[in-house]
Amino acid sequence: MSALIEFLDVCKTYQMGDTVVRAADHVSMRIDKGEFVAIVGQSGSGKSTCMNIIGCLDVPSSGVYLLGGRDVGKLDKNELSEIRNEMLGFIFQQYNLLPRLSLLENVEVPLMYAGMSRAQRRERAREALTMVGLGDKLQHKPSQLSGGQQQRVSIARALAGNPAVILADEPTGALDSRTGREVLKMLKDLHEAGNTVVLITHDNSIAMQAQRIIRLEDGCIVYDGDAHAPEAVVSPGLAGKAETV
Ligand SMILES: Nc1ncnc2c1ncn2[C@@H]1O[C@H](COP(=O)(O)OP(=O)(O)OP(=O)(O)O)[C@@H](O)[C@H]1O
Ligand SMILES: [Mg+2]
Repeated sequence: MSALIEFLDVCKTYQMGDTVVRAADHVSMRIDKGEFVAIVGQSGSGKSTCMNIIGCLDVPSSGVYLLGGRDVGKLDKNELSEIRNEMLGFIFQQYNLLPRLSLLENVEVPLMYAGMSRAQRRERAREALTMVGLGDKLQHKPSQLSGGQQQRVSIARALAGNPAVILADEPTGALDSRTGREVLKMLKDLHEAGNTVVLITHDNSIAMQAQRIIRLEDGCIVYDGDAHAPEAVVSPGLAGKAETV
């Protein structure tokens, strides 16, 4: 197994007046190619902080983050956006689609930034939209779709560049439970097709759809292992007590 994502003693601190907030507190973990991992924790536990670091949107205050073996903390701004384009596909709670563009054009945007030719972009975008079941709506605008369909467009956009890692931050947060399940099923299918998927959520039942759970509390990893082990799911509010028992 080759490590795709590796955190070595990563800390992220924020200065708030006189106090220092440790949003990531000596986090070490490794995610290998082909895994489906959920990063879970209550509000303020450090999920977005870790997601931003994994996604090369931010760098650690100390410690090392290796993505595909490259030390992200040593990259300059241009190299960061390059590695982001090349290695990562993002899915957000808010789909972040551009309202004036067609679905096809929306999916093409990141491919354009990656420097792909127009013809190749078109082809890839069409394939990705077909894969998520929207092949018959290529020229539609996002506003002509349901929430679940819009999230599928954002999945197609994440996939189209064939990224090493698909990074999904609360992807079902804005969806009703049935549509949310469909989106989760799609992430599971992507994993089964060989993709590496990292899912960020505050919801245990969603996290349990992954193979492995990394649970954060106050910026620290308090569980890292099988998603189906009984210790993987600790009910909110009991988490702190369970630690001290
Ligand atoms: N830019 C910032 N400046 C100061 N403190 C911050 C900043 N960003 C995050 N924090 C703090 O770091 C901690 C972790 O925040 P983070 O956003 O990673 O939590 P989260 O698990 O994503 O929460 P949520 O589920 O609410 O999105 C919190 O205490 C938060 O207040
Ligand atoms: Mg967050």
